[in-house]
Amino acid sequence: MVSRPISPLWNSLALDRAAARSLQDQIVEYFRAAVLGGRLKAGTRVPSSRVLAADHGVARITAVQAYERLVAEGYLASRPGSGLFVAESQPERPVRPSAAALRRSRVRPRLPALKRSVPALAMPPRPDERLPLSTGIPALDHFPWSDWARITARLHRDRPLDALGHGDPQGERELREAIAQYLGAARGIACAAEQILVVAGSQQGIDLTARALARPGDAIWIEEPGYPIGRAALQAAALERVPVPVDSEGIDVAAGARLAPAARLALVTPSHHYPLGFTMSLRRRLALLDWAESANAWILEDDYDGEYRYSGRPLAPLYTLDRGHRVLYLGTFSKVLAPGLRLGYLVVPAGAVDAFAALKAASDRHAPSLTQRVLARFIEEGRLAAHLRRMRVLYASRRRALLDALEGEAAGLLRASGTPEAGLHLVARLMVPADDVAASRRALEKRVFAAPLSTYYAGAQRERGFVLGFANTREDRMAPAVRHLVGAIAETKPRTLSSKAGTRENSGTWRRMA
Ligand SMILES: Cc1ncc(COP(=O)(O)O)c(C=O)c1O
Repeated sequence: MVSRPISPLWNSLALDRAAARSLQDQIVEYFRAAVLGGRLKAGTRVPSSRVLAADHGVARITAVQAYERLVAEGYLASRPGSGLFVAESQPERPVRPSAAALRRSRVRPRLPALKRSVPALAMPPRPDERLPLSTGIPALDHFPWSDWARITARLHRDRPLDALGHGDPQGERELREAIAQYLGAARGIACAAEQILVVAGSQQGIDLTARALARPGDAIWIEEPGYPIGRAALQAAALERVPVPVDSEGIDVAAGARLAPAARLALVTPSHHYPLGFTMSLRRRLALLDWAESANAWILEDDYDGEYRYSGRPLAPLYTLDRGHRVLYLGTFSKVLAPGLRLGYLVVPAGAVDAFAALKAASDRHAPSLTQRVLARFIEEGRLAAHLRRMRVLYASRRRALLDALEGEAAGLLRASGTPEAGLHLVARLMVPADDVAASRRALEKRVFAAPLSTYYAGAQRERGFVLGFANTREDRMAPAVRHLVGAIAETKPRTLSSKAGTRENSGTWRRMA
């Protein structure tokens, strides 16, 4: 190695004693940048830790430890008896571009797949779990941390080596058994663990189903209005989404059969329509099954919050009526525990399991094994059932509080749908001409999340109002939140909604919101 003299450059090190970063970090950063930027050449001797400390007024230990880190990272190397030098070969370290540089960048990747199907994915803004009335979020303030932590600690103490390697694409056996048991007890579904595929939330279930059962360009029925995030998965799979109107009995099967008789798939929410809340009537269920049988089509039943019913008896899932094995059942732990777990499940016909598991493996190998095992034990110990019992009581009370707040604060302005008493959200329709998208944006500025109902529609005919979540909002926060929403509506100029004609999905509205 050539030896260069101590570079005078190192002396440009300027330490900021008021900075949040430690002096040691600043020294390390300085040398890294100087080496990577070529200002300190390979072979250059750096001052001893004693000199560095004295010249810059830092403790010797600070200088020693900074150098140790630089040696460990490969920037500096020591030569016994001669001191420290800039190493000959530098560690490969990508230089992180600044936010400003990224903004200036003119490189625009080409996205042929998205271009082919749609100009851009129509994804709604993500509900913020900290904001009142956020849709679709369970009571995260009641997450069963202590049971979860106890089960996790016990599992980790056992050091299950096999959970650290690659696991079964279909999902951990233990969890699939637990889900099969749970579905029998909670939803009246008789299925075997062999039919269950553990997925990364409903979203992946929709994606895998779309890709397994349909080809790009195939028609698929979606509910109108319906679940925008689910629809985005179909959009990404380049399917032709056909919005089929929903009335108080659920999806209008006759209309669907007129609009797209040969659709491959129908994505439906029979237990609790999303977002309007209706339960699909028995008549419609039978009609839907008949259509699927005659059209050789599939039905994907998204039972996202079927566990929550606060009065009356719920109808069993559509899956339980299916004799021809046309229904795939999709469940999620997002509503019964937390969306951040990213765990859900598909129940598929036994003959299709291998194909689905192969697709899952090709996509992301499998769901995280340790989390699956914790969840399996959580269910086996009866903790999920107990948690659900507690949450039903809590949500019934939070729902009541939201209805009272709407009645007290928004009478004549918003009309809430009171039935069925179910789920984690309700719909409040606007009774005056106002732009729900603009009002929602205004409400967000006041830190209230009120999803605009019109954005749940794909076609031109849109109702206006808000989809309001109550599960993650404390009772005492309901009235203030509704008051803010009322203020936001009042501050928004009345305006007619844009109405693009056509039956294809209109994805422009979310972008107006974003
Ligand atoms: C209709 C519907 N399906 C499914 C889900 C759950 O999605 P995931 O399991 O991907 O979190 C939601 C959540 O908001 C939903 O509204």
